[in-house]
Amino acid sequence: MDNIIGGEIDISLDSFNSNENYSFYDRLLFYDSGRTALSVVLSNNYISNHKFLLPIYSCESIIKPFKELNVHFDYYDINLNLDLDLEIIQTRMHQEEFTAILIIDYFGFTFDKNVISKLKNFGLFVIEDISHLSVIPLLFNKYKSLSDIIFGSLRKNLPVADGGFIVKNSNFSFQQIEPEYTLHSMFKLSSKILRGIYSESNIRNDDFEETYLKLSAKAEHLLDLSDSNLKGMSNWSLNLLKRLDLLKIYEKRRLNFKMLLILFIDNELIDIPLINKDIDSHPEYMPYLFPIMVNKKNKLIRETLKSNSIYTSIIWESFDKKRIENYPNSKYISENILCLPVDDRYGSSDMMFLFKKIRSLL
Ligand SMILES: Cc1ncc(COP(=O)(O)O)c(C=O)c1O
Repeated sequence: MDNIIGGEIDISLDSFNSNENYSFYDRLLFYDSGRTALSVVLSNNYISNHKFLLPIYSCESIIKPFKELNVHFDYYDINLNLDLDLEIIQTRMHQEEFTAILIIDYFGFTFDKNVISKLKNFGLFVIEDISHLSVIPLLFNKYKSLSDIIFGSLRKNLPVADGGFIVKNSNFSFQQIEPEYTLHSMFKLSSKILRGIYSESNIRNDDFEETYLKLSAKAEHLLDLSDSNLKGMSNWSLNLLKRLDLLKIYEKRRLNFKMLLILFIDNELIDIPLINKDIDSHPEYMPYLFPIMVNKKNKLIRETLKSNSIYTSIIWESFDKKRIENYPNSKYISENILCLPVDDRYGSSDMMFLFKKIRSLL
């Protein structure tokens, strides 16, 4: 029976027996999700009075806090290599009086220091979303950012049920929220543990798969519908977080990404990876997905892989089909991207298996 590859980052029962590592987390404020962390940031009047540029290549949950808190914003497009177009940003800033920008470290690759320092030199207030990178490179002091605010989600990228964070910052004192149990964290914890059991077993069962998917979808739905009260992170997830082997996560994800990239390059499929970066000379990078461009075949390939127990994702399908027409690069990426899993659950044989399957479908 083939291994399951990809899908939600599940929770192994073993993780409850690992040792705790408390000291890492003094630098963070915790909330139930990334969007709550962003809402807390935007609850600060100095910050919410800014006029923001937001990337349209993003997910709706990032935009929602801006809408709910009536913060002024408009979208910007990114380059086809996921970089910022500094010239356009500067022009729009002057013509339309934007004073702040939100940037996303897509797929776990940080922006060059010069890019952030240029944004700051333009006079922009910079909020950086490191959900894809996770806090790990930051906690290991591999990444030092110049941004004014750094925040992110924990629940998508790590084996926890819920969670978001703001990196503490001497210029702002953000609202702290006590840990609490939420219904969405309860559903997500159940779904991720079920999936952990299912993945570790050698048994495939449609009922089990369906139950896990239903619980997970219910958790997402509950979070999407939750009221505007800011919520804390569950003690379940805080406890799991303290027990993670952060070094293993950091090293394996980097190794898997590197291996997959080499496989594409060696097989003369160099145009397929969306990101071709030298990880070895950048200790700050920590990818968890490997995005490729598959010429509008992303949905088809995703479905075919699913029948081989390989779960890939499209990050992101546009949340506003009409508006994205004005942002051609983001539209192009959304329509062609497919994201392959390279997280720490997998090793070199999984990467080889994944590569061979993908190659046969290109
Ligand atoms: C880059 C990024 N930022 C923020 C979020 C929002 O995080 P959450 O779903 O925990 O609110 C997501 C969610 O997928 C994300 O991908």
